[in-house]
Amino acid sequence: MNGFTEKNGILHVDNVPLPEIARLAGTPAYVYSASSIRAQYEALKSAFEKKLPADRQPLLCYACKANSNIGILKLLKTLGGGLEIVSEGELYRGLEAGFKGEKIISTSFGKNEAEVRACMDADIRQFNVEAWEELEQINKIAAEKGKKANVLFRLNPNVSGGGHAKISTGRKDHKFGNTEDKIAEMYRRAAGMKHVNPVGISVHIGSQVTTVESFRPAYENVAALVKRLRAEKLTVERLDIGGGFPIAYDSSSTLLDLDAFAQWVAEIILPLDTEIQLEPGRYMVGNAGVLLTETLYVKETDARKFLVLDAAMNDLIRPTLYEAYHGIRPVVTNAGRNTVSYDVVGPICESGDTFAKERPLTEIRKGELVVIESAGAYGFSMASNYNSRPLPPEILVDGDKIAVIRKRQTLSDLIRGESLPDWLD
Ligand SMILES: Cc1ncc(COP(=O)(O)O)c(C=O)c1O
Repeated sequence: MNGFTEKNGILHVDNVPLPEIARLAGTPAYVYSASSIRAQYEALKSAFEKKLPADRQPLLCYACKANSNIGILKLLKTLGGGLEIVSEGELYRGLEAGFKGEKIISTSFGKNEAEVRACMDADIRQFNVEAWEELEQINKIAAEKGKKANVLFRLNPNVSGGGHAKISTGRKDHKFGNTEDKIAEMYRRAAGMKHVNPVGISVHIGSQVTTVESFRPAYENVAALVKRLRAEKLTVERLDIGGGFPIAYDSSSTLLDLDAFAQWVAEIILPLDTEIQLEPGRYMVGNAGVLLTETLYVKETDARKFLVLDAAMNDLIRPTLYEAYHGIRPVVTNAGRNTVSYDVVGPICESGDTFAKERPLTEIRKGELVVIESAGAYGFSMASNYNSRPLPPEILVDGDKIAVIRKRQTLSDLIRGESLPDWLD
């Protein structure tokens, strides 16, 4: 379900008109639809229910870097999934939202000691290991705590994936994962260590993988590696086949055919007779959120018409960082107005603070509300205080129910933790 629909010319989130959210929380504000997050989760789950036997269903571990608000985490927890984390902070959030360690997996690159200790204290399900030194550190800390940690080794399948160079992670020249040879060596050494338990292989080729066929060769490489390890009498009982499932940012977006994807898993991964895990992030929440913003004014120059919003690149960095396309539309449809080509910009002092260039939109006037669509993933979680702009609030709507799941920052929040040196008068 798409939680954002137009009723009587006014855009709604679930059953609530967006102007009501603007009155309640002000702008800019992130607004999420609970029904749409639920629908995404259920669609992926049911694709697997159709193709895989009941006792071999994958654990869907939500990659919370996409949107780590504890309200969103709690919603996903109630659906029964697990959680993928990449830092001590994400672990903290997950535990606050009620996830049990047994459903939390750590995939961070460059794990620091405090993070490994915290994960160990929470008895997390597994550590996905990137490097030999990381494995040694996990073994040492587990020994100190008298524990044995499950470890998986991340394969670099040398496969291209990811909607942009900066979010592609599966090729040989990327920092992630290891070759088959290196993993075989680490796996053997881990099998001889007292405080780690090598249980399997992980793979993640990138984010917003629009060439969805790329998943297949990556999974085939995983299968080949499993067979090779087993030929050496090593035990492989768990496979983590990553995230990266694409969402629609515009009408021409290539989407993941969930049935075909589940079929590949059934053909390639299922026969390996292991537990199966996935790490979807963007897919769960991306289309379930918008950035609600108000038009400050329209500025005309000789060259362009600029639609100046009260949201900026600090609130949503994706267009600036990844040249990402986001749909933009007025909240109230003004039938009869002309179409105008705008550069849609924010108030930050950089030309990079641009959400869209030469975007044709029905004419928008000062004070009118606009949404930037598909902003539920890597939106708030990548927001910053650049230009000393307080972070926007986050609102979760479920049918008629509205919850402010994060308050707007205040000016005093901006300097919390800062201090004046006592040697400056
Ligand atoms: C290891 C790992 N798993 C899962 C994800 C989630 O990716 P996505 O949000 O595209 O599903 C990421 C994203 O960076 C990742 O690095």
